[in-house]
Amino acid sequence: MAAHPRIAVYPGTFDPLTNGHVDIIERGLALFDRIIVAILENSGKHPLFTVAERVGIIREVFADKPIVEVETFGGLLVDYVRSRRAHVIVRGLRTVSDFDYERQMALMNRHLSSDIETVFMMPSEQYAYVSSTLIKDIAALGGSLAGLVPPVVDARLARRREAATTRRA
Ligand code: COA
Repeated sequence: MAAHPRIAVYPGTFDPLTNGHVDIIERGLALFDRIIVAILENSGKHPLFTVAERVGIIREVFADKPIVEVETFGGLLVDYVRSRRAHVIVRGLRTVSDFDYERQMALMNRHLSSDIETVFMMPSEQYAYVSSTLIKDIAALGGSLAGLVPPVVDARLARRREAATTRRA
């Protein structure tokens, strides 16, 4: 490892992790010495999975990749990034529609902390239309998630659906 390890933080809600996220993390493996997947604790998105469940899922998927760490954070992202001695925020850019929002966040984060750089990575085009919300919608309606999420996520969503069906019966 280099004298100054290249540490990147990949923040998000990850409710749940999709293969698009996995693709970004795997691309990062070639660029960084450590990648910290950072799950926002108080997301206003009313997540389906608890923070602990999301941590567990991502740890399980990357169990054989010790340079991928999973943590949670609250407060300002730049403060968290600094606390981990990282200088890079990784974000995925799927489509042009992501760009405006991501640009605004990156410039605001730079305004807040000029020594932290945002690095954008493009996931493989087969994941350009994947989002966690669509994944949850498809799962709730019994559609196939093959190739869109890791098997552990597929299994957890199926379990949720079965539980919801049993409750309704
Ligand atoms: N593959 C598949 N889906 C992807 C993806 C990829 N490569 N990249 C993003 N997405 C999807 C996510 O699944 C998510 O979908 P959803 O909206 O259906 O849930 C959506 O794109 C973007 O969400 P996410 O990546 O989770 O980011 P976010 O916008 O929810 O959270 C934070 C962004 C956590 C980085 C931001 O809110 C933050 O920094 N908060 C801390 C407070 C702070 O510092 N605020 C000031 C920031 S300037």
